[in-house]
Amino acid sequence: MQQDALSAQRTAFGQEVYEGLTSFPKQLSSKYFYDEIGDKLFQDIMAMPEYYLTNAEMAIFQTRKTEIANLFSRTGKPFSLYELGAGDGKKTKILLQELIDQKASFDYRPIDISQNALDQLKATVNDELPEVVIDPLQGTYYETLAAIREENTKNKVILFLGSNIGNLLHPQAIDFLTQLKDTMNTDDLLFMGMDQKKHPQTILDAYNDASGITEAFNKNVLTRINKEFGGDFDIQKFLHWEVYDPESGTAKSYLVAKEAFTVTIKDLDLQVHFRAWETIHTEISQKYDDEVVSWLADQAGLEVTNSFSDADQNYKNYVFKTKKL
Ligand code: AVI
Repeated sequence: MQQDALSAQRTAFGQEVYEGLTSFPKQLSSKYFYDEIGDKLFQDIMAMPEYYLTNAEMAIFQTRKTEIANLFSRTGKPFSLYELGAGDGKKTKILLQELIDQKASFDYRPIDISQNALDQLKATVNDELPEVVIDPLQGTYYETLAAIREENTKNKVILFLGSNIGNLLHPQAIDFLTQLKDTMNTDDLLFMGMDQKKHPQTILDAYNDASGITEAFNKNVLTRINKEFGGDFDIQKFLHWEVYDPESGTAKSYLVAKEAFTVTIKDLDLQVHFRAWETIHTEISQKYDDEVVSWLADQAGLEVTNSFSDADQNYKNYVFKTKKL
């Protein structure tokens, strides 16, 4: 095997591409949608009328910010507000402003894998909300959770917004929630956005927009493989396909091969054959209801103490505490 192929395969992305495209059925993880282009496409998705999630969470923050901020600062003690996967912090700034108005004593600790995203966020927070003490943490969720666990001096409120938890299957979500719980003490809170079960067509439309932005986002994983591992995917030969199962509440994204062909991925030393109509499963976007959320919490040693919903009950923000033994 060539040196290039060896080092490419050693990266987590390379390894997962190799494993995902040599398994049956084929699969690739949605965490690899995100590079500079994928980040931009996701920003565009959040601005689409069909993608109701962002506006619903924004509406909850705008209408319930006083209660939410009261809850965060209810102990009267200083706290750190951690945010996992902070991105551009657009929604969070509504809460930061309210906490400042309430004269809460807190610092803001956004966490993101991208240093660039954190630098930009810090600059905009400094500019728009100069009273906020911001101290970013760069790293994966798992790395930074370990760091949070070590820093046990102040109370914590942990934000995980945008229904990002929905990109995990229930067993992975429970594992992740358990890790979060392990960083929390009795007075700490977890505040999480979770998209709700609703009319199936509304969900299908959110993940299958007429303008093709979600299609481009889904296909970006193939574009990345072409760029980063010398692949020759012809992305035109794939359909973006979305299904939603109202029973389980799981929306699933696929790329479907419209004809038979073979793809070569040079740096992974890999040739992959696709039969006509063969699929690559790329993403799940789980939808929830109160029962499922309570079950997930219970499995992870947490309990739901409050929730905030938008007027249409499309989306909820849940507050979790560690379960009393
Ligand atoms: C980031 N995540 C919560 C989005 C979702 O709704 O699953 C990603 C996304 N995929 C397609 N559209 C948006």
